[in-house]
Amino acid sequence: MRDRQLPESVYNWTSVVGVAVAVASFCIIVLLLLIDAFVDATTAYLGLLTFIVLPIFVCLGLVLIAVGMLIERRRLQRGAHGHFRPELNIDLRNSRHRRAVAIFTGVTGVFLMATAVGSYNAYQETESVEFCGAICHVMHPEFTAYQSSPHAHVSCAECHIGAGAGWYVQSKLSGAYQVYSVLAEKYPRPIPTPVHNLRPARETCEHCHWPDQFFGARMMVNQHFLGDEQNTPHPISLLLKVGGPASSRSGSAARPHDSGDEGIHWHVSEANRIDYAATDDRRLDIAWVKLTDELGQTKEWTLDGEPVDQEVLDGSELRTMDCIDCHNRPSHNYRSPTKLVNQAIADGRIDRRLPFIKREAVTCLDDEYETTSEALSSIDEHLRTFYADEYPEVVEDQASMLDAAIASVQGIFQQSLFPEMKVTWRDYPDHVGHSESIGCFRCHGSDLTTAAGEQISKDCSMCHSILAQGSGPGADSIAPSGLVFEHPVDIYGEELETNCTECHEGGAEIY
Ligand code: HEC
Ligand code: HEC
Ligand code: HEC
Ligand code: HEC
Ligand code: HEC
Ligand code: HEC
Repeated sequence: MRDRQLPESVYNWTSVVGVAVAVASFCIIVLLLLIDAFVDATTAYLGLLTFIVLPIFVCLGLVLIAVGMLIERRRLQRGAHGHFRPELNIDLRNSRHRRAVAIFTGVTGVFLMATAVGSYNAYQETESVEFCGAICHVMHPEFTAYQSSPHAHVSCAECHIGAGAGWYVQSKLSGAYQVYSVLAEKYPRPIPTPVHNLRPARETCEHCHWPDQFFGARMMVNQHFLGDEQNTPHPISLLLKVGGPASSRSGSAARPHDSGDEGIHWHVSEANRIDYAATDDRRLDIAWVKLTDELGQTKEWTLDGEPVDQEVLDGSELRTMDCIDCHNRPSHNYRSPTKLVNQAIADGRIDRRLPFIKREAVTCLDDEYETTSEALSSIDEHLRTFYADEYPEVVEDQASMLDAAIASVQGIFQQSLFPEMKVTWRDYPDHVGHSESIGCFRCHGSDLTTAAGEQISKDCSMCHSILAQGSGPGADSIAPSGLVFEHPVDIYGEELETNCTECHEGGAEIY
């Protein structure tokens, strides 16, 4: 018999194959690590291969070795070689045993270290933005919107998982199911929102933002252009009463509350708790709201002040209001064609001198398309045909202006609409505001009243003051005390009576 340095039972085909698989995978991992260290721009797929796929093969190899050894040992015990071997008999005076022990300890040590480094990296990898956003193509819309959001440098996991082992395990379990449903093409399109098992926002958002830090007011300047031939500009400047400590009050007479906290973030101040019941899956239809203040006093609003049916409550989702009941799109905000075209005209990416460009751009963005490539060619065709028919001189004299506008409109489509995943801004309404989706007006000014008939206020100066509006004379002087809203086109006072969303929804109905 040859002088074998390893246990007899290793010498079988299964184990040999196992060794080959494990060693080969391990060598590839080392090689990829070297590439990763020396080459700057490697792809996300490399990490997936290095830290997740190959380690699985290393483990598979090790399992094969063990299985092979077990089978071989059984065979040996049954007397294939005619002699019985004791279970374990290590004699350190025997140089063959010494060598075997040394090899075993060395290999185990290296393996354990590699496992530690590997699992840390696997952990990092599955938490990485590339893993969640780029590799998983289903997330393409979320990832695209995320990249142009104020949170583009906050990792997906910081909002979706947060700190602590419990949520980590929970998210990996549901993540495993998600990977399966993607592979099996079982996932719904668009991905449903809201995320019903999202971690409570106060545990994630408040890592970086905490209510004490909100202060005073925030100025917002929104650019608008009408759908007329001149694309008439109509900017609106608002001062949003974000809220803060009592000392920094910005004179809002309409406020129903006079406790220390005020303004929009009053909803999430330590002193209050607002519970509500939504009867639909998307939390848009609210049937019951209850406020509990710092003294424990409560106030309830129900539909038309009628006592709320227990059956309705049982069938509803009950929530305590937190950040995402308003900021539900902090990172994946699919803006409407109206907003994006307004912005592109304001930035000069679309030239305002092109007649009716606001109206036409919104119209062709908000059409039905099966695929992105179909949309891009239709947009090109729509705009060229429109100008060729209506304004042939534009096609002749301002061809490059038109080309640039077409490219910008196509760019807007690619950034905000995803026909393959059936994602549009309509499927993911933004709850901050009220002009294109119902947002604040789910409660404020809705049919919810107290038993005494008191509404949740919709007073136009409670949440903001309008500092400047329109492009008429005097529009550039700011009115610190606030203006009465004047609708850009005369709609006979409807803007104060009817919710903006009855007419506006960001698409082609009103440009
Ligand atoms: C700033 C926090 C934040 C970050 C960062 C973030 N998300 Fe989200 N995500 C949210 C919130 C909030 C929701 C919606 C919750 C709701 O309405 O229930 C959401 C919803 C989603 C949804 C469900 C569909 C939808 O749009 O409502 C997916 C899928 C998703 N996120 C994926 C990702 C991916 C992938 C990344 C990283 C590229 C990421 N998220 C980064 C906060 C975040
Ligand atoms: C890891 C830190 C971090 C986490 C977690 C985080 N944010 Fe932010 N957030 C930021 C940073 C950084 C900014 C950008 C500040 C800036 O641009 O001035 C920001 C900006 C914002 C803004 C202002 C956006 C604007 O239009 O300027 C809002 C609103 C916001 N975050 C809400 C949230 C919500 C809601 C959550 C939880 C779902 C959250 N954030 C989680 C770091 C974070
Ligand atoms: C009642 C709705 C509502 C709730 C609840 C809410 N916010 Fe806001 N928040 C707003 C509005 C409206 C603004 C101003 C508009 C904007 O910045 O988009 C704002 C602004 C902000 C800003 C930007 C502030 C600035 O001055 O630039 C941050 C950051 C923020 N919120 C984080 C949070 C966090 C974190 C929570 C949860 C603890 C939260 N908000 C809860 C409605 C809300
Ligand atoms: C789930 C219901 C609900 C939603 C959604 C909601 N609110 Fe409120 N809000 C309330 C209730 C209830 C009150 C207290 C009304 C009262 O006591 O008369 C309130 C009060 C306020 C106040 C007065 C706070 C103070 O200083 O006393 C402001 C400002 C406000 N909300 C802004 C907003 C804004 C902005 C949004 C949308 C981004 C919004 N709310 C969305 C329920 C809601
Ligand atoms: C419950 C709070 C609340 C009330 C009440 C309220 N608004 Fe607003 N409004 C907001 C918020 C929040 C925004 C900012 C939305 C955003 O971030 O884009 C806004 C934005 C606006 C804008 C700018 C829209 C744009 O796209 O430029 C106008 C105009 C406006 N509101 C008019 C009104 C009028 C008129 C009323 C009274 C009928 C009113 N608002 C009542 C919260 C409120
Ligand atoms: C009865 C229907 C109706 C209601 C209600 C209404 N609007 Fe309008 N809105 C219009 C029409 C029609 C136009 C003109 C479209 C055009 O020529 O661009 C318009 C145009 C606008 C524009 C300029 C175009 C743009 O979007 O860039 C703004 C801003 C606007 N409305 C804000 C509001 C706000 C805020 C509210 C709620 C307070 C509101 N509207 C309520 C019908 C309405």
